[in-house]
Amino acid sequence: MALDLFSPVKLGAISLKNRMVMAPLTRNRAGEGGVPHDLNVTYYAQRATAGLIVTEATPISEMAHGYPALPGIYTDAQTAGWKKVVDAVHAKGGKIVLQLWHVGRISHPSLLPNDALPVAPSAIKPAGKAFTYKGLVDYVEPRTLDACELPAIVQEYVHATKCALSTGFDGVEIHAANGYLLDQFLRDGSNQRTDNYGGSFENRARLLMEVTKAVVSVAGADKTGLRISPVNPFNDMHDSNPQALFNYVVTELNQFNLAYLHVVEGGIHGGGKADAFDFVEMRKLYKGAYMANLGYDKARGNAAIASGHADAIAYGVPFIANPDLVERYKIDAPLNEADSKSFYGGTEKGYTDYPFLNA
Ligand SMILES: Cc1cc2nc3c(=O)[nH]c(=O)nc-3n(C[C@H](O)[C@H](O)[C@H](O)COP(=O)(O)O)c2cc1C
Repeated sequence: MALDLFSPVKLGAISLKNRMVMAPLTRNRAGEGGVPHDLNVTYYAQRATAGLIVTEATPISEMAHGYPALPGIYTDAQTAGWKKVVDAVHAKGGKIVLQLWHVGRISHPSLLPNDALPVAPSAIKPAGKAFTYKGLVDYVEPRTLDACELPAIVQEYVHATKCALSTGFDGVEIHAANGYLLDQFLRDGSNQRTDNYGGSFENRARLLMEVTKAVVSVAGADKTGLRISPVNPFNDMHDSNPQALFNYVVTELNQFNLAYLHVVEGGIHGGGKADAFDFVEMRKLYKGAYMANLGYDKARGNAAIASGHADAIAYGVPFIANPDLVERYKIDAPLNEADSKSFYGGTEKGYTDYPFLNA
């Protein structure tokens, strides 16, 4: 029988009961101190019928924060809060990995310790506005990271990975997409360094490879996923030759034998026009499991799996509005519509109150 969205699959060490993955979704509803609380437990547990949940992007340190009310994964209290989420998802037979996040320049001093400047590969201020506790404000020019500061950031990824694994997460996903720190190093619109972290593809990918190696050394490659977004212009990102850059990146990633590579196949949030890119060409260069994302529905998801383009499909907005998306796709039931006004921040409204089919 042909494979489809409902066929089980093993991604590294993680066994999925179906190939529908809940994409990482920042919802800005963590408790005090970045500690996940009961509301977050309910939200994730409601979606445990997904083959795999990728958590919202989760800062790995104080300096990794860039938005209000994010959950962290570097203090004991945060780790204990996440354990409740993980236990609830597991109790319902689900699988869950945590997305490891450093925002780099997409932040603001008011969100950082001692009003620090955000850090970045180069002192290039992104166009757009930071989302702070006081509303939208202009981004500031970030501070250029010195190469000698990078090992400490790699260690933050290691610490956060250890925290995540101690809760029983099924794995971690390295967030190298959407214009945050690791992506800022990759693309030359944000990286104009002249040391061995800038210039050539090898240099721009160096930090990503160092982080991946370090995370793999504690989590195991079979519990490590990684997300990229080669042409996503969101967060003022661009590159002079994305096809060649990301063909290089995925070829280099082959050495790790990761659980999966997760690819945002275009631009998100209507944040501008994405450059042309041949995802089929890049996919052919990657030897491991491939998770596709961006604007997939049931028909396109099934087609991508049947053709062998993807091993799993990540759904973002559909999982916000449909906790039982898997069931709905199975029986071709109509979908709830997402309310974008309640995406970022707030209470249970637009978070845990979307109706189930059989409510
Ligand atoms: C509210 C919201 C929050 C998001 N937060 C994250 C995030 O934390 N990490 C990430 O990698 N992508 C994030 N994204 C992007 C989604 O994971 C996904 O790539 C995007 O929604 C496109 O998939 P879709 O068409 O299935 O919704 C977010 C998207 C939305 C709408």
